[in-house]
Amino acid sequence: MKIENVQTVGVIGGGVMGSGITQVIVTAGYRVICCDLTDEILAKTRSAIINGRYGLKTGVERGKITAGQMDNALANLVLSTKLEDLKDCEIIIESIGGGAVEVLEDRDAKLKLFTTLDSIVKGDSIFTSNTSFLTIATLAEAVKRKGNFLGMHWFRPPVVLPVVELTYTPDTSEETLRLMEAFCKSIGKEGVRVKDVPGDPGFIGNRLYHVAAAEARKMVEQGIASQEDIDKVMELGYGWKMGIFGMSAAFSSTRQEFQEKK
Ligand SMILES: NC(=O)c1ccc[n+]([C@@H]2O[C@H](COP(=O)([O-])OP(=O)(O)OC[C@H]3O[C@@H](n4cnc5c(N)ncnc54)[C@H](O)[C@@H]3O)[C@@H](O)[C@H]2O)c1
Repeated sequence: MKIENVQTVGVIGGGVMGSGITQVIVTAGYRVICCDLTDEILAKTRSAIINGRYGLKTGVERGKITAGQMDNALANLVLSTKLEDLKDCEIIIESIGGGAVEVLEDRDAKLKLFTTLDSIVKGDSIFTSNTSFLTIATLAEAVKRKGNFLGMHWFRPPVVLPVVELTYTPDTSEETLRLMEAFCKSIGKEGVRVKDVPGDPGFIGNRLYHVAAAEARKMVEQGIASQEDIDKVMELGYGWKMGIFGMSAAFSSTRQEFQEKK
């Protein structure tokens, strides 16, 4: 498949990440079918895309996009509770989690979903998972199209952060990786290749962040420095815009904002 053939993208899970991912892709001009479990959840997804902190309305107010671009983005948006609607998508982005049990990384749920999708979606489509921690090769076990399977790990908020980790297994084809790099470019993101390693805790970003966060917490416990001063050093000395504790706080506040809208 060539990038010119990509017209419709399926995003499964319209939560904190899925709503932002969908917004980025519809704004870039692709049609997106975003699937979630209920119409009520999908109404929140639509609201987050339009009215969220990084939503289209804010984009227009801040001059990042025009009102016309917002209208076009919304015209590209399809919301559905039926996985069958994804059958003609060229790219699938799985971003499920949460739900009643509040488990973000439910491997069995993702495996079940990919098995179902493999029987519904046309054979040459590319399947990706936005998992932050699960080994990609384990998820690829659910499908026959292993050459077309890879991780596509976005950063939060997807609308703002311009990098995506593309995690490849030994089976992921070079053609698939190149297409996904081109797709990332076409939606204004930089796709970075990461080798999938079983048991690897979180690709590049999360792996490094968690080591740094653990050390930062240790320094606070040992009375070496305050949270504020650690963040000041990381921000002013190393250019980590939100420091370490600031990043943790931002993670919780986006989730809370989305949940309050639910
Ligand atoms: N939150 C982050 O900062 C972040 C960053 C990168 C990756 N991720 C990963 O992205 C995924 C989603 O995270 P999130 O923060 O958006 O979670 P979330 O709970 O905000 O949203 C998940 C959505 O998936 C839906 N869902 C659950 N099972 C489903 C199914 N079988 N079919 C369709 N929809 C289903 C839920 O109803 C919910 O709306 C997780 O794997 C998470 O680890 C999260």
